[in-house]
Amino acid sequence: MLGINFHYLLRRLVGKPTCDKHPTARLGPSARIINIGNDSALIKIGAGTIVEGSLLTFAHGGQITVGQWCYIGEGSRIWSAGQIDIGNRVMISHNVNIFDNLTHPVDPVSRHQHFRAIATVGHPNRVDLGERPVLIDDDAWIAAGAMVLRGVTIGKAAIVGAGAVVTHDVPPFAIVAGNPARVIRYVGSADAETSDTVNGKDRPPRTGRHHVY
Ligand SMILES: CC(C)(COP(=O)(O)OP(=O)(O)OC[C@H]1O[C@@H](n2cnc3c(N)ncnc32)[C@H](O)[C@@H]1OP(=O)(O)O)[C@@H](O)C(=O)NCCC(=O)NCCS
Repeated sequence: MLGINFHYLLRRLVGKPTCDKHPTARLGPSARIINIGNDSALIKIGAGTIVEGSLLTFAHGGQITVGQWCYIGEGSRIWSAGQIDIGNRVMISHNVNIFDNLTHPVDPVSRHQHFRAIATVGHPNRVDLGERPVLIDDDAWIAAGAMVLRGVTIGKAAIVGAGAVVTHDVPPFAIVAGNPARVIRYVGSADAETSDTVNGKDRPPRTGRHHVY
């Protein structure tokens, strides 16, 4: 239905690390699992989740957990050097960027050294990229072209509008938009309950709030 992800199959075939993927999770043809961290357990993808974008861990650190029934759209990049946790039923549209780190040092000399290392010998095993964890809670929706930067928590069922740049925490049920993102209104109510079922079917095992595989 989604097509075959040859990149993932090839990496598995040659014994390279990929991810800890629930058997019912699916990787589309455009998905990329770039696990520089060298341990498949560093990237976890939960039941029913569909990935069309890229999940990347750095050599010096990084862990990504994606819960159940999430969607990560084409062209989206989730890059972790620290910890990025995505809850259940989270919708991440296309061309979204989520970073828990600065990606490169701020100091220009260190930045060039970092680039030179990547270009010649590969990602360094020791570097400080200002890592701060990112959490995207259950039922959030990150719309097309949005950017979620280091240290941010997106609250339950919150919506990040298209093209928004999120630099601060987003409260549960808030809708944020703009650069930097600000709350424009709230959706639903704090006592609204969402469901793991579709027409009463396909309920994956419930064993916790996040990271259930
Ligand atoms: C420029 C950058 C490095 C600054 O990040 P930072 O050091 O975490 O930012 P700071 O904590 O110093 O933020 C200071 C203020 O600027 C705001 N801010 C930071 N980055 C912002 C951005 N990209 N857009 C809008 N506002 C931003 C913060 O909200 C904060 O505002 P406040 O003072 O009102 O709270 C970061 O925004 C960035 O662009 N990182 C690169 C991500 C990237 O493109 N990686 C992949 C490509 S290689």
